[in-house]
Amino acid sequence: MPKIHEISIGRLYHYYPTTVAVITVKAKEKSTAMAAAWHSALSYDPPLYGVLVSPKRFSHNLILEAKEFAVNFLPFEKAEIIAQVGRNSTKEADKFQEFSIELEKPLAISAPILKDAYAAYECHLVDHRDYGDHTLFVGEIVMVHRLEEAFSPEGVPDLSRVRPAMYLGANLYVAPSREEPVRLVGTVHKEY
Ligand SMILES: Cc1cc2nc3c(=O)[nH]c(=O)nc-3n(C[C@H](O)[C@H](O)[C@H](O)COP(=O)(O)O)c2cc1C
Repeated sequence: MPKIHEISIGRLYHYYPTTVAVITVKAKEKSTAMAAAWHSALSYDPPLYGVLVSPKRFSHNLILEAKEFAVNFLPFEKAEIIAQVGRNSTKEADKFQEFSIELEKPLAISAPILKDAYAAYECHLVDHRDYGDHTLFVGEIVMVHRLEEAFSPEGVPDLSRVRPAMYLGANLYVAPSREEPVRLVGTVHKEY
C-alpha cells in the first residue's frame, strides 16, 4: 500500500493511542480537572513532568495561580471521567460536582487527587513556556500516589490488574491488550 505524504497535520492523531492524563489544580478555593493527551515525563533527576495546556482552558490560569498541579492516570473502566472533564469547562460548572467525581486529599500540594486514579503525581510548577498555541507547564514531582496492586514488582503497570485508559482520537478510547508482554532486551554493546 502506498504511503500518503501531506503538509496538513490534521488533528495530530498519527502517534496515538496514548494514555490521557487528568490534570487537577486548586487555587483560592477554586478547583478544576481537565483531560490532557499531551503530557510527558521530562527528567528523572530532578523528577520533572510536562503537560501542554492551551491558554483557552480554565485550568491554564489556575495552574499559573496555584503554581502546582496534579497528574492523574485512570483505568479504561473510568474513561467516561476523562471524556467528561475533557469536553466540559469549569467556566460553565463545577465538574467535580456535576459528574460526581470522587476525590482524595493530596499530601504535598492543594490540587485534589482522583479517587479512581491508579497513579498520580503531585507537582510543583517549576517552569512554563509557550510553544505555539499551547503552554508547556513543567512540574517537579513531589509526591507519587500508586495503587500497589496495579504494578508488578518491577514497577511496571500489571495489565492483568489495571488497563490504562488510552485515547485514539475522535472521542475514541481503548484499553491495552491483555496479551502477555514480550520482553526484548535489545542491548548489543553494553548493559544500561
Ligand atoms: C482526550 C482528550 C485529550 C485532551 N488533551 C488536551 C491537552 O493535551 N491539552 C489541552 O490544552 N487540552 C486538551 N483537551 C481539552 C481539555 O481537556 C478541555 O478543553 C477541558 O474542557 C478544559 O477544561 P477547563 O476549561 O475546565 O480547564 C483534551 C480533551 C480530551 C477529551
